[in-house]
Amino acid sequence: MRLLMEERTVENGKVENLGDVPSPIDLRQMADAAEWAAVAMEKRPWRVEFFGRFAHELAGACRVLELGSGPGFLARHLLERLPQLRLELFDFSEAMHQLARERLGVLAERADFRLGSFREADWARGLPLYDAVITHQAAHEVRHKRHLPTLHRQARSLLRPGAPYLMCDHYAGGDGMANDQLYATVEEQEAALRQAGFGDVALLMRQGGLAFFRAV
Ligand SMILES: C[S@@+](CC[C@H](N)C(=O)[O-])C[C@H]1O[C@@H](n2cnc3c(N)ncnc32)[C@H](O)[C@@H]1O
Repeated sequence: MRLLMEERTVENGKVENLGDVPSPIDLRQMADAAEWAAVAMEKRPWRVEFFGRFAHELAGACRVLELGSGPGFLARHLLERLPQLRLELFDFSEAMHQLARERLGVLAERADFRLGSFREADWARGLPLYDAVITHQAAHEVRHKRHLPTLHRQARSLLRPGAPYLMCDHYAGGDGMANDQLYATVEEQEAALRQAGFGDVALLMRQGGLAFFRAV
């Protein structure tokens, strides 16, 4: 296997980027996924306010891709409120998809579950174009802020002309996160979106360590 300069192989043959920030938990394991899901809304009850803004922004959208969809909190909020919506849930954790299916119940009839990692170079290949690509509290899972422009560029490639990319994530600094390698500052988040080719970038909300951008 040919490795890029930044890469190294680790014990199990997996390739990791040097300088990336390893995750202390493995959200592909049901125990870790379920534990994350059990406390997510309690830990940050204001997440629901962000969900409300997603719903507002998506009024009229029919086909939407959610990256790092996790246990389906945002998906449920959206599918309950937007009857025209069909959601594609993209996550690398089958455990998270299982939790999302349970959370969605009959709403899962309007959801498609795709297993994949947005850290893979070709994750977007073969996907159709969407009325929006959305992501909540997951973009930092690229495991270093320097990978954000690549993720955003790949998301942009999946948008119909004029369709929005709605990106909400933790930020570094101030009342946000301490790790300034894993997380970008709000200014760096905006710069990463512009670097990915988005011309119209607006900060819609910032609260409790989360910043929500609309990029077109
Ligand atoms: C912090 S959780 C957020 C879940 C959900 N968006 C929410 O806010 O409730 C991050 C999610 O990203 C997923 N994830 C982590 N790394 C990923 C990757 N490389 N590709 C796709 N999904 C990933 C995890 O499985 C998890 O579901």
